[in-house]
Amino acid sequence: MTLRLSEARPDPPETASEGVWLSCIACDATFAPFEAVRYTCDDCDGLLEVRYADLPTFEEFEGRTPGVWRYADALPFDEGVSIDEGNTPLYEVPTIEAETGVADLRVKHEGMNPTGSFKDRGMTVGVRVAEKLGVDRLACASTGNTSAALACYGARANTETLVLLPAGKVAAGKVAQASLHGARILEVDGNFDACLDIVSDLADRGEAYLLNSLNPFRLEGQKTIGLEILEQFRDQTGDLPDRIVLPVGNAGNTAALYKAFRELVQSGALDADEVPTLTGVQAAGAAPMVEAIEENADEVRRWEEVETRATAIRIGNPVNAPKALPGIRETGGTAVAVSDEEITDAQRALARDGVGVEPASAASVAGLRKLRESGDIAADEQVVCLTTGHLLKDPDAAATAGADPEPVPADTDGVLDHLGE
Ligand code: F0G
Repeated sequence: MTLRLSEARPDPPETASEGVWLSCIACDATFAPFEAVRYTCDDCDGLLEVRYADLPTFEEFEGRTPGVWRYADALPFDEGVSIDEGNTPLYEVPTIEAETGVADLRVKHEGMNPTGSFKDRGMTVGVRVAEKLGVDRLACASTGNTSAALACYGARANTETLVLLPAGKVAAGKVAQASLHGARILEVDGNFDACLDIVSDLADRGEAYLLNSLNPFRLEGQKTIGLEILEQFRDQTGDLPDRIVLPVGNAGNTAALYKAFRELVQSGALDADEVPTLTGVQAAGAAPMVEAIEENADEVRRWEEVETRATAIRIGNPVNAPKALPGIRETGGTAVAVSDEEITDAQRALARDGVGVEPASAASVAGLRKLRESGDIAADEQVVCLTTGHLLKDPDAAATAGADPEPVPADTDGVLDHLGE
């Protein structure tokens, strides 16, 4: 298996530029990072990873302003196209902590990013790479959040943006964001995976620069979720978390968090046994990663039919599986599927603790509950659940999960009568 937690630190190849290069995770071919547009390996079409001659340590982060660019030493350059992404809160959730009975539970709320999801962390890096490459059109396929972030960062970089969305399956807030930030929105009569097939073709034909998480630079920005969790959890508790539970769609975050921790192990900043156990959660109607983990398969089978209320993770072909499966396995983690009802229940539970999230985000808490019941997560564990998007992303799901408005007459006595009922 490639991508071992304790693998040797690679030497920079001749193709490296200022200590940064791209490496194929399947055949180890290396490429210059910013000379040509490239998403996968020229030789074998494997996934690419950004590699560094100098690996990060915690000391290098200290003293820098919180946010994605605090972690410049773990990133390919010092400055992105930025609107102050990152530095999201790590919340205590006392009710869910008590109910699940784990030693410590925090929620890392990525919905508090500028466009309301973790995607901003990837875009601040990826859109800067697009500038370096001099491309004139950006594109992505999306279940919604990527399109909102790309539209926003594309606008900021003054670059044309094209987003392909599965028609009728994207939450209202996300379409509104992409629209107002000025993206051209193409609604495809197919699911997310079909959208990604098309946009990958467009990118291969040179029509646009692809900013899905197949683009290795996106994942560099998303690594900072993991770095921030370690620093914040240590600040709050004096310890590192044992486990991180996260929703999985394309498995980009799973891959990114694993890479962040692998690089810290390689630099000597973290011991291999200090790396948090990565635990993925999918909706039962879109759970190819869970299937691969349960069957101990090397490859993930593409699901052609997918369905879930958590539309953000309505994905049947997780493109980052080759990077994410080793992450789950090497850290001793697992993956679990949860029903739409369990997702909505978890969304309500988070809301009761004051954390407003969209359905996909609540999958992490639903997964924690399930794995506590099965005993896969122990009572003495210190756990972080990742919540990936804000409640307002999907107002319809929130209104359905929440209480209904009550019509009352337009006078105080009438209101009091109603309340007295
Ligand atoms: N949670 C939310 C809110 C998301 O929007 C996504 C992915 C995920 C979780 C899954 O993350 O792909 O890294 O495993 N959304 C993408 C999009 C597909 O188009 O917005 P992953």
